Amino acid sequence: KKVVLAYSGGLDTSVILKWLIETYDCEVVTFSADLGQEEELDGLDEKAKKTGAVKAYIDDLREEFVRDYIFPAFRANAIYEGQYLLGTSIARPLIAKRQMEIARMEGADAVSHGATGKGNDQVRFELSYLAIDPGIKIIAPWRDWDLNSRTVLMEFAKKHGIEVPQTPKKPYSTDRNMLHISYEGGVLEDPWASATDEMYTMSVRPEDAPDTPEEIEITFRKGNPVAINGVEMSPAVLFKELNTLGGRHGIGRIDLVENRFVGMKSRGVYETPGGTLLRHAHMTMESITLDREVAHLRDSLIPKYAELIYNGFWFSPEMRMLQNTIDQSQEFVNGVVRLKLYKGNSYVLGRKSDDTLYSEAFATFEGDEVYTQKDAEGFIRLNALRLRIQKMAGRKLGGE
Ligand code: ARG
Ligand code: SIN
Repeated sequence: KKVVLAYSGGLDTSVILKWLIETYDCEVVTFSADLGQEEELDGLDEKAKKTGAVKAYIDDLREEFVRDYIFPAFRANAIYEGQYLLGTSIARPLIAKRQMEIARMEGADAVSHGATGKGNDQVRFELSYLAIDPGIKIIAPWRDWDLNSRTVLMEFAKKHGIEVPQTPKKPYSTDRNMLHISYEGGVLEDPWASATDEMYTMSVRPEDAPDTPEEIEITFRKGNPVAINGVEMSPAVLFKELNTLGGRHGIGRIDLVENRFVGMKSRGVYETPGGTLLRHAHMTMESITLDREVAHLRDSLIPKYAELIYNGFWFSPEMRMLQNTIDQSQEFVNGVVRLKLYKGNSYVLGRKSDDTLYSEAFATFEGDEVYTQKDAEGFIRLNALRLRIQKMAGRKLGGE
């Protein structure tokens, strides 16, 4: 028997690795994805093998992550509950997809992950696994075992010679990739207790950001950012640069309480410097290139689209439909946006596009040849018709 385990090399997944071997008397192949978590991935294969893995995969998925997961979501301006840019949510389907490829190559019987039974991540991993292979067997140790406290876990680790990290454990849980770092749990469980300054990693405090603002230009093609300050870059290189720029100016810190799919509310603190910049720039680009009705219709789909990502339905027919629709809307989202970055914020300085729908000839307050002001009279009177009839019938109207 063979199991492919999504493995980070941390204490939890190291214990899981050992536990799988003990419990199922199986071979374990580990899989670690480089999604830009900036952790040491060197030595991870040795570590996995030392803990008992028969084989260890370490794959750099950064370009694929940005190109095929982050960019599609940002073409949609995806945002969950008006605040969360989905940094963890969007990474899970990619990890699951690659893990399933490895399971197939290895002829494995099952896959396993280290997400708890209380969270969103278990749902995202497993919906993805099952969408890819309807018959796959899934082992979620956190839902099965009795190593339910930190102390028991440590004892298990010691007993089996698993290296326990020497640095004291951070008093909260984190998840990092190219798009964000999330902080949850531990001292953050009290929603009144604020996060400490030392916690933040990708960004400076807005107070500590440079006193001189920085101007940047982002070029878009079909809704994707392709260049910064005129320099074309690959998706992952460009996104990393956005993180650097945003982080330097203290952009993209957020503290919120969100609704988990399984039902409870959860407090999360996030750093999403590049993503916050990108969303602002993209919406600015759309403002001159998207038709009004297309824009409003797409806007009405954002909550649903974001919910699909959050709840783990990346690989689903409804997502296919939505993504196709959104991507079609992006055909003319081409041009350049100029932003000013300053102390935690980005400000629009200008936008231009060869595909602009903005027309100075129509918009001007000066005399013009193209628009007949008299036409507006009938437009207003016909729109008022219902309101006048309501009033004449003595009905109450809103706002009174
Ligand atoms: N609450 C966020 C989400 O559901 C972040 C989850 C963080 N996951 C983790 N394993 N630390 O997307
Ligand atoms: C976990 O429970 O494994 C992390 C939090 C989440 O998935 O929401």
